[in-house]
Amino acid sequence: MSVHKNVKKVTTHTLQEMKNSGEKISMLTGYDFSMAKIIDEAGMDIILVGDSASNVMAGHETTLPITLDQMIYHASSVVRAINRSLVVVDMPFGSYQGNSLEALSSAIRIMKESGGHAVKMEGGKEILDSIKRILTAGIPVMGHLGLTPQSIYKFGTYVVRAKEDEEAANLIEDAKALEDAGCFAIVLEKIPAALAKRVAETVSIPIIGIGAGGDVDGQVLVVHDMLGINNEFNPRFLRKYNNLHEQMSSAFKAYIKDVQSGDFPNESEQY
Ligand code: KIV
Repeated sequence: MSVHKNVKKVTTHTLQEMKNSGEKISMLTGYDFSMAKIIDEAGMDIILVGDSASNVMAGHETTLPITLDQMIYHASSVVRAINRSLVVVDMPFGSYQGNSLEALSSAIRIMKESGGHAVKMEGGKEILDSIKRILTAGIPVMGHLGLTPQSIYKFGTYVVRAKEDEEAANLIEDAKALEDAGCFAIVLEKIPAALAKRVAETVSIPIIGIGAGGDVDGQVLVVHDMLGINNEFNPRFLRKYNNLHEQMSSAFKAYIKDVQSGDFPNESEQY
């Protein structure tokens, strides 16, 4: 029997059951009420209120500028829209790297003020103290390894991570440490597919990939990318399910034309 089809509300336990029974987990980012409603109604397992909001919603070059208050605003808009999906909220850069008490107070603010169901944090052993403290407060934590965009200035580029043996071995160690600490799932971003497969076989918690191949327990994409809203971002891992940039642009142009010509509004569109 399908775990996915029979749940009214997805929980971290549902995701573990899905991994155990070999059912793939679907996850997509969402940042606002209207989009989240459509995503939830479509049957998505997880909506990630990603700090990619910094890029796609606010137009920043990196994810670093977005604040805790702004993440809470996006997350609370998403939470008001959903019935079934699990809502995971990214902890933004600067809200958890200082010390574990600061990390806990940021996570508590997210849970209390947004109503989200879990938080996501980038990093491995170096943030383990913070992860453990947050978990002790009963807040579920999703890990994020591989390409971690909050560290872009340390890495310098967005190229594939962990291609060399040493970095790959470190990543596996980090994944085990996150599992041992009690994380309920891990996102692996932009790493070789063979390494992602090894991680998914090594740890028993769900592994969600983005640019990490198909041999993991689920997939995540940024909603604006998969809808083709942003036509300037075309990495190899991205499958576009629509070309909304073109469709929206034609709709906007048609509206401008109708306003300019006086064709809109017509008699049936007025009181
Ligand atoms: O912020 C985000 O959108 C993410 C995904 C790319 C996993 O962290």
